[in-house]
Amino acid sequence: MTELASRLDDVAQRFDAAVDRANDEQALESVRVAYLGRNGEVTTVRRAIGTLAHNERPAAGKLINDAVAAMERRLQAAYEELESRSFDAELATSIDVTFPSIRRPAGSIHPVRRIIEESCAYFVRHGFAVVIGAEVEPDYYNFDALNIPNDHPAREGFDSFWISDTLLLRPHTSPMQIRTMQEHRPPIAIVAPGKCFRRDAVDARHLFQFHQVEGLLVAEGIHFAHLKGMLTGLCRELFGEQQNVRFRPSYFPFTEPSAEVDTTCPKCKGAGTLKSSPMGCNMCGGSGWIELGGAGMVHPNVLREVGYDPDRYSGWAFGFGVERLGLARYEVDDIRRFTKSDPGFLAQLS
Ligand code: DAH
Repeated sequence: MTELASRLDDVAQRFDAAVDRANDEQALESVRVAYLGRNGEVTTVRRAIGTLAHNERPAAGKLINDAVAAMERRLQAAYEELESRSFDAELATSIDVTFPSIRRPAGSIHPVRRIIEESCAYFVRHGFAVVIGAEVEPDYYNFDALNIPNDHPAREGFDSFWISDTLLLRPHTSPMQIRTMQEHRPPIAIVAPGKCFRRDAVDARHLFQFHQVEGLLVAEGIHFAHLKGMLTGLCRELFGEQQNVRFRPSYFPFTEPSAEVDTTCPKCKGAGTLKSSPMGCNMCGGSGWIELGGAGMVHPNVLREVGYDPDRYSGWAFGFGVERLGLARYEVDDIRRFTKSDPGFLAQLS
């Protein structure tokens, strides 16, 4: 028995030394096979149990099992140690965990979308509903119902993309006035943002595809001052508190009276001059005002067309060019920049 114990001791010591020497997984595996494998050293010692007296055998078996368990733990620890060492080595040679990572550029909301969202939010806060219409509409909704009959010269102002004799890409968002009023009884309070299309030559101020925000309020007792108040509020929302709005007499077939709407030039703050430029403000051309679009009191013919009694109801409407708002708000010199997906330009505005 003592002889078996000392042989076991010897095996264990040599095993420890062998494990210490093994410096890769393959070497560890050969140590395992040599000592703990089916024909390994421990098995040889185990066979010697047969030579012991019967009463000594259980104790000898336990001795060997304990030694095997210890060896297995030792082996496991060695494997883990090797693994973590090789991971460290890999980190050291191939990955510098302190190296700053590449910053993925985050997208930004397009300025046109932002202006639409902010305009709608302003009107929604005042109880308006947002309505979205089709981009292709019959001429009835684009013209006839808006008091622009077939032979009306105002049609010339809307040089449109026609799809058939009666269908066209809408040149303005005003069809949504008719669609909404035909579907609902007054009071009506809506904003209708969306794409519009005109056969315009593209330059720094014109696009053939652009966006408008349309607004319409119809109820009893509505008058021009309501329009003025709401549009002044909109401009202050978009440009800041110093903003004013001015109305210039104009003509639209669907409103009477009609006005062209300007807001204080955000660049020169209405002065028309800039310290940096003796030529006058290049944003507004020296006038101190930026043109945003048209507005007016809904024409009685339009109200009649949708079955509203013009003696009872009145309303205001407006249509603003979103890209025009963008030019003023972001002090951009060329409207075409809004159509190019230049991430640098867009990020600058966000
Ligand atoms: N639809 C007009 C245009 O695109 C703009 C406009 C003017 C809209 C007056 C209106 C309005 O609602 O009342 O030129």
